[in-house]
Amino acid sequence: MSKLFSAIFLIAGLSTVAQEPITYTIRTSGFEKSIQPFLWGIFFEDINRGADGGLNADLVKNGSFEFNTPMMGWEPSRRRMPDGLCIVVNRQHQQPSNPKYLQVELLTAKDTFGLANEGFGGMAIKKGMRYDFSLLFRQATPGVTMRIQLLNTARKEIGAAKLIPQSSGVTWQTQSVSITAADTASKARLVIWFEGTGKLDLDMISLYPSDTWKGRPQGLRSDMVQSLADLQPGFVRFPGGCIVEGTDLNERYQWKHTIGPRVDRQLIINKWNHGVAARQTPDYYQSYALGFYEYFQMCEDIGAAPMPIINCGMSCQFNTSEVVPMDQLDTYIQDALDLIEFANGDANTIWGKKRADFGHPAPFNMKWLGVGNENWGPQYIERLQAFTKAIKEKYPEMQLITSTGYSPNPQFRYMDSVLRKLNVDIIDEHYYQTPNWFLMNAGKYDNYDRKGPKIFIGEYACHSVRIGSQDNKNTLLCALAEAAFMTGLERNADIVTMSAYAPLFAHTEAWQWTPNLIWFNNSQVVKTPSYYVQQLFSRNRGTHVLPLFQEGMPVTGQDSCYATAALDSVSKEVIIKLVNASGERKSRMVAFERLKSKSYVGTITTLEGVSFQQVNSLDQPDNVKPKTAPWKSKTPILLELPPYSLTVLRGKPH
Ligand code: AHR
Repeated sequence: MSKLFSAIFLIAGLSTVAQEPITYTIRTSGFEKSIQPFLWGIFFEDINRGADGGLNADLVKNGSFEFNTPMMGWEPSRRRMPDGLCIVVNRQHQQPSNPKYLQVELLTAKDTFGLANEGFGGMAIKKGMRYDFSLLFRQATPGVTMRIQLLNTARKEIGAAKLIPQSSGVTWQTQSVSITAADTASKARLVIWFEGTGKLDLDMISLYPSDTWKGRPQGLRSDMVQSLADLQPGFVRFPGGCIVEGTDLNERYQWKHTIGPRVDRQLIINKWNHGVAARQTPDYYQSYALGFYEYFQMCEDIGAAPMPIINCGMSCQFNTSEVVPMDQLDTYIQDALDLIEFANGDANTIWGKKRADFGHPAPFNMKWLGVGNENWGPQYIERLQAFTKAIKEKYPEMQLITSTGYSPNPQFRYMDSVLRKLNVDIIDEHYYQTPNWFLMNAGKYDNYDRKGPKIFIGEYACHSVRIGSQDNKNTLLCALAEAAFMTGLERNADIVTMSAYAPLFAHTEAWQWTPNLIWFNNSQVVKTPSYYVQQLFSRNRGTHVLPLFQEGMPVTGQDSCYATAALDSVSKEVIIKLVNASGERKSRMVAFERLKSKSYVGTITTLEGVSFQQVNSLDQPDNVKPKTAPWKSKTPILLELPPYSLTVLRGKPH
């Protein structure tokens, strides 16, 4: 019998327990609170290398030469190059969305030279895998050929291919070639050797592995998307986060710049490039290879509802606090209206047609739109009202998510009261707090106003050391504190209809923020204890809250325990979630009100560790991981909750 299974005693074993355990009683009638399929979702922001160098599987950094330092990421093979051998051309006025390209002119055969791309801290290459190299080129003077090479850190070739530009003239052409890797390397480089004589213009250089998500050409990194699919999230909030606002309005996220041919997607600097003084990442840009169409497509792929957030005419209030004047807000509002048409309009509408032309004639069924991210104050309210009027006039069914800023902050009470007076649809609350705060707030929503707007906990995470500290770790304790808080969200699912941990992804060598739900490097994905908590809640969501009491009260920390129960009306199972946030083993009895003794059969899943400070890492990714075992019990159910643990029981009478 497994360790887990032996922790469950049948009622017959009760006589051996010295003290009567605390009893939790579940009411099995009158459960009027339903749990939305969207209760547990995810928040994606391009922070910590989430997009380029992350979800976007392209291994080439700055393949379009559009970074402010156009050759960043590239290294020529010669320290001193003859004038004109390799130059960056900027045709800003002619092509503002993609002004720069590279020109290589070889006048004599001895001009042969190479350009190496370092990737995002090296390129992870797998033996036997096919890599698809592609570029845009034109050649007014034909004659230059290319040899594409993959080199490991010992400069040994682990793959190569020849590329002879196939046509000449003044129009840009795309050309591709594939390389199969002969060896594995964690920090390889791509080198392009130019040979012959002639003049070649190059742009949009990329190298994608062939094992992208769903095998889509130039697609997303499959292990990262799979980690999201495995969460079975109800929705995906995108694209942030502060990048929606931008450091200033010029750097705000503009979804229209992120769709259509890649070459027309106007790259901008990422706010997180310079956003955190101690964690500068000068090579952090947004190529928008992961753009709004790809976001919607990814949501559909993983069965999650799309939840875009747009700029409301205000830049980040932690930075410049710029606002667009009210009489110039129309462009911003039009962006919102066009976005709804892009997502939901039929193929006869202007923006719906674009979506159809990209390959998706069916609507994406967008239900929500976030107006602003962490914005606050009267300026926000004024702009929100203008957005709301225009959107509701055209799309009365669209549910708008409204911001309270970062909470709990001094502004929160003001924002909350004004938003309630405006009778908004959904109020977004954000909590980056300590373990103690999350434990203390497991009952926060028990007495919230039931008649007012619904609540979306749009960002939250438990910070182990200090709020915003770069020493914060994804400890087991943090995960359990979040789990305790989440029992409160589930119990109040009639009012808290959606929630998301934040941020989602972080590259172990290029992060700006910690903690994060999923860590990754160029070849590995590490799921944190918090990830497993999200997964256990999401995969065991249930459809209705079953009221669970200890002496008539919800279980919100009595004796360091937290509990909630749900019914899955489809599978007819009862789901019980129990958190023990103490270092002691706890015995608990779970009884069903007005129910004769029955046998239950199902599974028991436990998330525990050897210490509450335990974390998962690249070297030890499975330190804290849930274990599931078959489970069978008569009612009342006697349980032993291990120290620092989350237990999820799911079963039905048999
Ligand atoms: O999740 C990281 C940041 O925290 C988000 O960009 C912002 O919305 C919040 O302040």
